[in-house]
Amino acid sequence: MRSDRHGFVHPTSSDITPRAAYEGRRRWLQQVAAGALGSTLAAWAARDALAQDKLAALPGTRSTVPGAILMDKPTPRADATSYNNFYEFGTDKSDPARNAHTLKTRPWTVAVEGEVRKPKVFDLDELLKLSPMEERIYRLRCVEGWSMVIPWVGYSMAELIKRVEPTGNAKFVEFVTLADPKTMPYVGSRVLDWPYVEGLRLDEAQHPLTLLAFGMYGEVLPNQNGAPVRLVVPWKYGFKSAKSIVKIRFVEKMPRTAWVKAAAQEYGFYSNVNPHVDHPRWSQATERPIGEGGGIFAKRKPTLMFNGYEAQVGQLYAGLDLAKNY
Ligand code: MTE
Repeated sequence: MRSDRHGFVHPTSSDITPRAAYEGRRRWLQQVAAGALGSTLAAWAARDALAQDKLAALPGTRSTVPGAILMDKPTPRADATSYNNFYEFGTDKSDPARNAHTLKTRPWTVAVEGEVRKPKVFDLDELLKLSPMEERIYRLRCVEGWSMVIPWVGYSMAELIKRVEPTGNAKFVEFVTLADPKTMPYVGSRVLDWPYVEGLRLDEAQHPLTLLAFGMYGEVLPNQNGAPVRLVVPWKYGFKSAKSIVKIRFVEKMPRTAWVKAAAQEYGFYSNVNPHVDHPRWSQATERPIGEGGGIFAKRKPTLMFNGYEAQVGQLYAGLDLAKNY
């Protein structure tokens, strides 16, 4: 057991994936960078090393939630932290890693309000101590057609929900993320109607697989991955997993999410991963795993119904027409 800088005690068991397991590719990149590929890659590798060294450890015990530990090999950490969608920091995949250092993650509060008996503004330190941290290795499938496997650290969103006691009127949960034009260069742009808002049905938010994540790869979240707290909903397309959350509202009506507002014919409220229902611009039948080499020529894999979590979540959608409710 050890105590961290937040003052709470974490178990350090052999269940916790050693950081070294994720480091192979970074070392390889640094070796390559030192040699033939020249200064750009060297600078990139150095920045990645620098960014990592600042991050505090955040281990979690191996989760016992059914389906929470995927046996696939995790995506190399260097890929998961440099190929991101976080439009507040730019629309290019490399923008968030380059720009998100300006995000100030402390002090940080999350206001939980709306149709709840016990509304409360949680300080980040309170949230970190609310429930034991678990490590969960989830698939993440982006609607654009790529995928990753990420070892997240956090606890079920249900843990927070039960403490605020939703009323009978709470049917949906809305997640509002930070929109700070001073630290987020693209919040002034018209890419999306800021702030980034996402939503879930209450029963989806309460599902044990829905994770409130504070870390990945045994460390606190890097800014570009949604520090200090984000959602991870592994059976839905990646954009449902809102980053850098500041407000959680329990509401009666289905929230208008940022993506529904931007293009309702392309992005639905449900956005469950479904290889049989294509996005108007991208087939959803197969996916390109990031970090396995080959770039755009990489071997594609078949996409699984509900991203492989059908046994756990399929019953949430019994009787729902998934082509209409995309
Ligand atoms: N959250 C906010 N606030 N802003 C965003 O642009 N992008 C989403 C989601 N959460 C996004 C966001 C999309 S499109 C994806 S695929 C995932 O974050 C990417 O998460 P990752 O960078 O950790 O892989």
